[in-house]
Amino acid sequence: MAEKKKILVTGGLGFIGSHTVVELQHEGFEVVIIDNLSNSSLEVLEGITRITGKTPAFEKMDLRDKAAVSAFFANHPDVSGVIHFAASKAVGESVEQPLLYYENNINTLIYILQELRDKGESCFIFSSSCTVYGQADELPITESAPVKKAESPYGNTKQIGEEIIADTCNVHHGLKAISLRYFNPIGAHPTVEIGELPLGVPQNLVPFITQTGAGVRKELSVFGGDYPTPDGTGIRDYIHVVDLAKAHVVALQRLLHGDNKENYEVFNVGTGTGSSVLEVIKSFESVSGEKLHYKIVDRRPGDITAAYADTTKANRELGWEAKSTLDEAMRSAWAWEKKIRS
Ligand SMILES: NC(=O)c1ccc[n+]([C@@H]2O[C@H](COP(=O)([O-])OP(=O)(O)OC[C@H]3O[C@@H](n4cnc5c(N)ncnc54)[C@H](O)[C@@H]3O)[C@@H](O)[C@H]2O)c1
Repeated sequence: MAEKKKILVTGGLGFIGSHTVVELQHEGFEVVIIDNLSNSSLEVLEGITRITGKTPAFEKMDLRDKAAVSAFFANHPDVSGVIHFAASKAVGESVEQPLLYYENNINTLIYILQELRDKGESCFIFSSSCTVYGQADELPITESAPVKKAESPYGNTKQIGEEIIADTCNVHHGLKAISLRYFNPIGAHPTVEIGELPLGVPQNLVPFITQTGAGVRKELSVFGGDYPTPDGTGIRDYIHVVDLAKAHVVALQRLLHGDNKENYEVFNVGTGTGSSVLEVIKSFESVSGEKLHYKIVDRRPGDITAAYADTTKANRELGWEAKSTLDEAMRSAWAWEKKIRS
């Protein structure tokens, strides 16, 4: 049966947020997006509309404005759940401007949680990251792997964010929350109506590859060819953004239906398979038919050797699993790159 519940999606015009809004609307939820457009554009709203046939409500707002956040919840007392994507996410920039990151990623979280605490009953999904594990001692990584000291202020905002949510849920039992620890989201919607829009030089591998394939970048630098992995390059768990978006919907439904075991839970969201940088390049070359220019250079400080998820908990508890292969995700990323360059 279709849900009619109203869900606030912060950062809903961003990469992962926009794909999640599509999946929420497919499931019949009524969506309200808050975004300040600091890393997205209004055109994304049109893409969502073309895919779903429905334009979600949108409020341009900066969540660092506490009074505006309060006013929003006063105007929308019927919000049943919040999926909180809005954050700054550039690791390098966070090292240069730590206070910007702590303000944007922590203050906004606190303002929203204060409103949800005051509502009594509410559901909250938080965008966390596998960066909280650092270089885990055991692979694949389970949720019980220890959280390691963060390598950057950005990573620290995710660790602190999770602690803030856990502490709040500990005393406010009406608040039910889930942190989803994403591995490496890639790809675009199969309709090619929405996708990733990195500003400036991409920090992540896949948009750098597709931009290099499209001739926007001359060459890809592969950081490190001497890691203790089968081909010497770093290994990550690349998950199609549509699979990731669907994980948000099932996590939200778990909370709305009261199927949660505790009022604060954590899940890894990945595919469970690690791919090396050279395997990702090979996948790009096979789906695009293009030869990629790349060279292997020194390791980058702060990079780890390998990270991939043990997804048993999400598979069992959420009844969710990633469906798309690396090639499928890469094909969608390439189709999107060609579309935005045409
Ligand atoms: N993309 C990844 O690789 C990845 C991995 C792990 C975790 N995450 C987390 O997932 C979330 C979404 O990531 P994304 O890749 O979609 O990023 P994104 O930058 O595409 O989306 C974030 C959105 O939030 C908006 N925003 C930022 N600050 C805001 C504020 N103060 N008020 C209102 N809107 C604001 C931006 O304009 C943007 O549209 C973030 O919290 C990010 O840290 C991302």
